[in-house]
Amino acid sequence: QRLEMELESIEKGGYEHFMLKEIFEQPRSILDSMRGRMIAESNHLMMSGIREFENKFVNAERIIIVACGTSWHAGLVAEYLIEDLARIPVEVEYASEFRYRNPIITEKDIVIAISQSGETADTLAAIELAKSKGATIFGICNVVGSSIARATDAGAYTHAGPEIGVASTKAFTAQVTVLTLIAMIIGSKRGTLETTKLHELMVELETIPSKVERALQLNDQIVEISEKYKDAPNCIYLGRGYNFPVALEGALKLKEISYIHAEGYPAAEMKHGPIALIDEHMPVIVIATKDSSYEKIVSNVQEVKARKGKVIAIVTEGDTTIPAMADHVIEIPETSEHLTPLLSVIPLQLLSYHIAVMRGCNVDQPRNLAKSVTVE
Ligand code: G6P
Repeated sequence: QRLEMELESIEKGGYEHFMLKEIFEQPRSILDSMRGRMIAESNHLMMSGIREFENKFVNAERIIIVACGTSWHAGLVAEYLIEDLARIPVEVEYASEFRYRNPIITEKDIVIAISQSGETADTLAAIELAKSKGATIFGICNVVGSSIARATDAGAYTHAGPEIGVASTKAFTAQVTVLTLIAMIIGSKRGTLETTKLHELMVELETIPSKVERALQLNDQIVEISEKYKDAPNCIYLGRGYNFPVALEGALKLKEISYIHAEGYPAAEMKHGPIALIDEHMPVIVIATKDSSYEKIVSNVQEVKARKGKVIAIVTEGDTTIPAMADHVIEIPETSEHLTPLLSVIPLQLLSYHIAVMRGCNVDQPRNLAKSVTVE
């Protein structure tokens, strides 16, 4: 028993929980998921799994992404990336819904299955269904040799390393990194992403690990904010564009490990329902980085403040407009809009972690949840 405990503490590498260790590993794990695949200086961008099916990807009329949980959120980010950079229509589906609704799938479709564990039963079943209809199946898994990795025609591993905490953190950012590379590769092959833009993105992507490192330095500030909101019964997360999936992921992280009821919403949808919930007791976490939807989100923040909601804003360093309105401001480094999720998700992971710890919850093994769900 004692030996086991000592072993576990060595595995946690000095951190109190696996989740915290994994959050702090992200500069490294993101780098590992790009390693060998991209070198901006020499314009090298290649993934062997894609190369095999390059023509399929280039000529695809549609890409269907199937996944569950956090992996599904990575899929949503990929929808924005692939449609924007490669101009192929993308549908993102919960594997459990997709498999049971007699979906229309043809041989021209590419199905991308995303799964950290590679063992999720619904995702595996969705793959088998799509395969039986002749679609090409591409897998993005973290666990090497897993069932999903074996069931696919081709794929790419995320190389995030083992993830022990039930709430997924570094696997998510690794998935988003790999999906970004895929969108860039297909976009450049299809000619929808011009060379200079591609190069700019590559250069920027290479800076992400060090920017994540900077975002992690917000930890102490986030502990203070967590103190203030740890007893909240509810929480709303808002984002637009690339940050909409991040809002969903932030809310999922909070409910998974702290058992606080949290909802993620696209900020503009707030007026169609959630705004009714806002009063002086409601914390609203708004991801409001400087991007194409910035002006719009400024008005969403005003709407929340007009109803006395407490605004915790994630903004781009140097922003002055939102800080003048928000109750708390968390500044993250500036980056390309396409890469924002890799940075904006970091403070949200830390926030849910600290709140859960303060509430005395079992962070690494939250009640009722499993790391991989191998049953329906
Ligand atoms: C479970 C885990 C989640 C995970 C989801 C999908 O619910 O608790 O963290 O996102 O399964 O898992 P996968 O291994 O397919 O990514």
